[in-house]
Amino acid sequence: MMSQEQNDLITRVGPGTPCGKLMRAYWQPAALVDELEGERPIKPVRLLGEDFVLFKDETGRYGLIDRDCPHRGADLAFGRLENGGLRCAFHGWLFDVDGNCLDTPAEPAGSPLCKNIKQRAFPVVAKGGILWAYLGAGEPPAFPEIDCFIAPDTHVFAFKGLMECNWLQALEVGIDPAHASFLHRFFEDEDTSQAYGKQFRGASAGSDLPMTKVLREYDRPIINVEHTEYGLRLIALREIDEERTHVRVTNQLFPHGFVIPMSTEMTITQWHVPVDDTHCYWYAIFTSYAAPVDKVKMRDQRLELYELPDYKSRKNKTNDYGFDPHEQATATYTGMGLDINVHDQWAVESMGAIQDRTREHLGQSDKAIIQYRRLLRQEIEKAASGAKPLLALDEAAARAIQGPATMDGIGPSRGWETYWMEVDVKRRRGAPWAAPVPSEIAAKVPHLTAAE
Ligand code: FES
Ligand SMILES: [Fe+2]
Repeated sequence: MMSQEQNDLITRVGPGTPCGKLMRAYWQPAALVDELEGERPIKPVRLLGEDFVLFKDETGRYGLIDRDCPHRGADLAFGRLENGGLRCAFHGWLFDVDGNCLDTPAEPAGSPLCKNIKQRAFPVVAKGGILWAYLGAGEPPAFPEIDCFIAPDTHVFAFKGLMECNWLQALEVGIDPAHASFLHRFFEDEDTSQAYGKQFRGASAGSDLPMTKVLREYDRPIINVEHTEYGLRLIALREIDEERTHVRVTNQLFPHGFVIPMSTEMTITQWHVPVDDTHCYWYAIFTSYAAPVDKVKMRDQRLELYELPDYKSRKNKTNDYGFDPHEQATATYTGMGLDINVHDQWAVESMGAIQDRTREHLGQSDKAIIQYRRLLRQEIEKAASGAKPLLALDEAAARAIQGPATMDGIGPSRGWETYWMEVDVKRRRGAPWAAPVPSEIAAKVPHLTAAE
């Protein structure tokens, strides 16, 4: 249990808050590239409790500027894209992607007013199908060279979804290996060959055991947590018998991301990005180590649940997430259908807008969450003191962050410690693009990487 002050410290991210300062040390997903592809590439964006307008000018440059016009405060999200920038619809003041005021057309000809006007503007870059914005002070950090950022465009697919709750509880479900045995339990297994694009519906690597069966029947995982240069590595072990153990390796990517296996072919790198203290978007990049991603199928699957333009789930609090008591009695643990995103959304939204951690009781299975919160507090302090927090990297350091390795498979009960690395290394070596073997892993399984 923690005090209200401690809970506030790790959940609140608005301007001037300690955790907000930490978050502003990193690039933040602001929109999908797709969202600025239409006829009118202008979009209001709320991020870390602040309101901006994101736009693409006529030459293709992206800009993120404060949403309220510096003249008399009208909403620039209703502006006009013309003459090299975004023009306010009230009196026509014009701003470029750097926040410079280019024109104040109602002022007398030759008026110098423009020169003294500057709208706050923030750098934006496109990477992995996501537009990233940097809201912090000074130089932005470099992007780590993790798989989702170095895989070719054909092998990545990005999507997002809204969650009506604080970012931290949404992240914490991703570093909670035990919940999948309950929240995502299906009473019967589907044909695993129909699993493309769906999490927990395929077979575990090295076996034909469906993941749904493993999760259902082996529900007390042993969880190991290791500190790494990018955050935490979680290894969840489910011993099937003396010979075989199910191993699932996932990662916490600091500050608010995780990297998890989706299938033998794909991983998911996902960030829980605060819109404000009571809403967040998950942004995910799906990365394939085999065939190009079927983007049309992936997108159509997800659009069945998420409604544009806000990427809100059609199943939500207002319709009890589609809860059906008969289904709960006969088919699924939640009674909320087969899409695990709905289960997770119910779990985290039902805790309340900001989970009251003064009333919680953590157990052994919450080990990774406990370690993560400790790390988060430590890095909040570091950022407050003016130092660079974990993973706020310069170019050289960012090049050294690779992978991270993920895995979901059945291995030997004795020897799983290297088995999971071997599976990951083989997958990388078989990939049609240059997926590097992280040096830490290469050092531990030299017989597999010696030829490199
Ligand atoms: S309020 Fe925007 S130009 Fe006047
Ligand atoms: Fe989940």
